Amino acid sequence: SMEQSLAGKKVLITAGPTQEAIDPIRYLTNHSSGKMGYAIAEAAAARGADVVLVSGPVSLPAPGNVTRIDVESTRDMFEAVKDHMDADLGIFTAAVSDFTPREVHGSKMKKQDGREVSIELKETQDILQYVGAHKGGMFVVGFAAETDNVREYAAGKLKKKNADCIVMNDVSNKEIGMNSDENEVVMLFKNGGEQAYPRMDKQTLGIQIIETIVKRWND
Ligand code: PMT
Repeated sequence: SMEQSLAGKKVLITAGPTQEAIDPIRYLTNHSSGKMGYAIAEAAAARGADVVLVSGPVSLPAPGNVTRIDVESTRDMFEAVKDHMDADLGIFTAAVSDFTPREVHGSKMKKQDGREVSIELKETQDILQYVGAHKGGMFVVGFAAETDNVREYAAGKLKKKNADCIVMNDVSNKEIGMNSDENEVVMLFKNGGEQAYPRMDKQTLGIQIIETIVKRWND
């Protein structure tokens, strides 16, 4: 049987995209499928963890032995995360929208006879940054999805968000990262050192990421 290295540990995982309402029928979102986060949730549950998976709208079934909380907006995801700040380990794979419409139209926006229409956006709450600032004993793992200067931005996020680890992936490559079945990452640790994983399926990579977190967390 698999080593129960996370027995007795509560693990909070976010996954998938968020949806930011524009009007009653339209929203702003991204291409995240939830596959990476769900694979990590499955790997953590298989090691005996008590897993809470806060998930944006995706079409995946919940892994067994995982408590899934379904959310739509960044605001909903933030509220769900705040309810589970007692987790021992937090892994934030969700592709949270950085922006949300400044106001949600109460009724369907109408065409303007050919005139341009604009939607004003404001920044959303940064969930990972909040968690980093209030983490107590939680070991915090963030993700960084970048299309360029990947390493530089990822290292910046590790510091700014007070994470213990950032898993960086290059989402400019359609073969890996968002909505594909495979990913290729480099894990950067606050205490120095890194772990690179070549391209592989997200299921296998989820197991590798969990194994590396457990090892580093115990050091
Ligand atoms: O879902 P898949 O199709 O399998 O794709 C996986 C993935 C590419 C989405 C995943 O591997 C990944 O990189 N997730 C993070 C995506 C992202 O939003 O990265 P970011 O660099 O914008 O954000 C950095 C970190 O801050 C992330 O941990 C993110 O969850 C968090 N964040 C960002 C914005 C915000 N308002 N709140 C946050 O908590």
